[in-house]
Amino acid sequence: MNTKFDWDAVWDRKGSSESADAIEISGFESVVIDTAAACAELCRMMDIQDTESALEIGCGAGLLARHMKCTFVGTDRSPFMVKKAIEVSHLSAVVCDADYLIFRDKSFDHVYAFGVFHYFPDYEYANRCIAEMKRVARKGIAVLDVPLETHDSNHLLFEKDFFPGWDFGPPLYQREHKRYNAYLRL
Ligand SMILES: C[S@@+](CC[C@H](N)C(=O)[O-])C[C@H]1O[C@@H](n2cnc3c(N)ncnc32)[C@H](O)[C@@H]1O
Repeated sequence: MNTKFDWDAVWDRKGSSESADAIEISGFESVVIDTAAACAELCRMMDIQDTESALEIGCGAGLLARHMKCTFVGTDRSPFMVKKAIEVSHLSAVVCDADYLIFRDKSFDHVYAFGVFHYFPDYEYANRCIAEMKRVARKGIAVLDVPLETHDSNHLLFEKDFFPGWDFGPPLYQREHKRYNAYLRL
């Protein structure tokens, strides 16, 4: 019997709510986050220029992406979240699993996931996602908001040695549990 927690049901429920608040829909209602500043820091860290392109894995309602100035496409496994990203944050977004990206090799300059890897079922899935991110990216990939510890036992935690040879940076916002960002220049 599969006893894994059903995160898909959580995101489908949040995505199908009446809310038009991206912070609430994307699940950041219990933290203080300056989303414009976080997006600017993300672009600085990955060196994303306005003239370039970026793909987000697990874009949710587009909390950070709505501040992106570059050409942007979001992906999410939940069709309800994709609809919210389009309607609430006015983004281009498609339904897509993180371990099977529906794009050609080297389609985007930058590929990142923010606040997503701890919802994956296991580390094999995370490695398949990283392989896909590398395949569709030209310049760099980032896994952001990775938890080292958590309040929720259903989260998948990642030690930094899961990302060998990557660079690490501090989280894009403050919260009580330790998190970090991982970046790989290609
Ligand atoms: C905390 S929200 C992410 C917030 C989002 N990055 C933002 O800035 O608004 C987590 C999202 O990851 C998506 N997700 C979780 N597992 C996924 C998977 N295996 N493939 C694609 N998306 C996934 C969920 O549907 C949910 O929308």
